[in-house]
Amino acid sequence: PLVAVLKGGLSAEREVSLVSGRECARALREAGYEVVEVDCGLDLAARLAEISPDVCFNALHGRWGEDGCVQGMLEWLRIPYTHSGVLASALAMDKQRAKEAYRVAGLPIVESVVVPREAVEAGHVMPAPYVVKPVNEGSSVGVYIVREGSNAPRLAAEMPATVMVETYAPGRELTVSVLGDRALCVTDIITDGWYDYDAKYKPGGSRHEVPANIPAEIEAACRDYALRAHRALGCRGLSRTDFRWDEARGLSGLILLETNTQPGMTPTSLSPEHAAQVGMSFADLCRWIVEDASC
Ligand code: DAL
Ligand code: MG
Repeated sequence: PLVAVLKGGLSAEREVSLVSGRECARALREAGYEVVEVDCGLDLAARLAEISPDVCFNALHGRWGEDGCVQGMLEWLRIPYTHSGVLASALAMDKQRAKEAYRVAGLPIVESVVVPREAVEAGHVMPAPYVVKPVNEGSSVGVYIVREGSNAPRLAAEMPATVMVETYAPGRELTVSVLGDRALCVTDIITDGWYDYDAKYKPGGSRHEVPANIPAEIEAACRDYALRAHRALGCRGLSRTDFRWDEARGLSGLILLETNTQPGMTPTSLSPEHAAQVGMSFADLCRWIVEDASC
């Protein structure tokens, strides 16, 4: 079958997606597929009509590619595509609405509010420490941590008109990939400071301990919560759910931050490492994802 790998796109995570797409395309060729790489711009629908692929491998991240938009277009074109569908993508991408689904599912989250950016700049919306972030970006783009004793933050001009303000959850960064109906393993992400954009993508920017060296109870809870989050949002194929764990508080210190429906597939990304832990090569993972595609 002819696979169109969708990469690039129009979001703040464009560069990350170019790398994810390139890696997936290479792996799929290795697995024997005929592959066309598509750098996605405004003419995407016309390009796909020309290429007429059997499947679209969605390697886009962020707005338009991860939030249900491209998924809706592919439904309209009747082209099977990988990862989550329209509703799960839209729900997961809106961090506030995703939390509502997690709350209903009984999953542990921290309090947050969505407010106009002016309110954030005018004074503390909640007691510090707290985090200010766009409701719909990934890779820690536009994330501000406001510490105790600091002033209300001034937000960059490109921040959206409304933002999410969330209680700061301290602790270790844990993450779990789900593939279909199976939670893979847990990674403990070890960084010198904040796991920001550079720590995510610069080689050596962070160290991944996989499987994480954590108590069995916490490991089991992470996997259980990740699978329940995947189901609560209605995800398909691969997803990755991120946590914070405040060790001192035991199980009650484990907080679910968010679910990524288009997890990174770059050489420093986490899901390929989770797959490797359960014996799947990167090519096996990409093949699994293509075989799972539908519309
Ligand atoms: N948003 C990035 C791509 C990730 O979650 O891996
Ligand atoms: Mg994310």
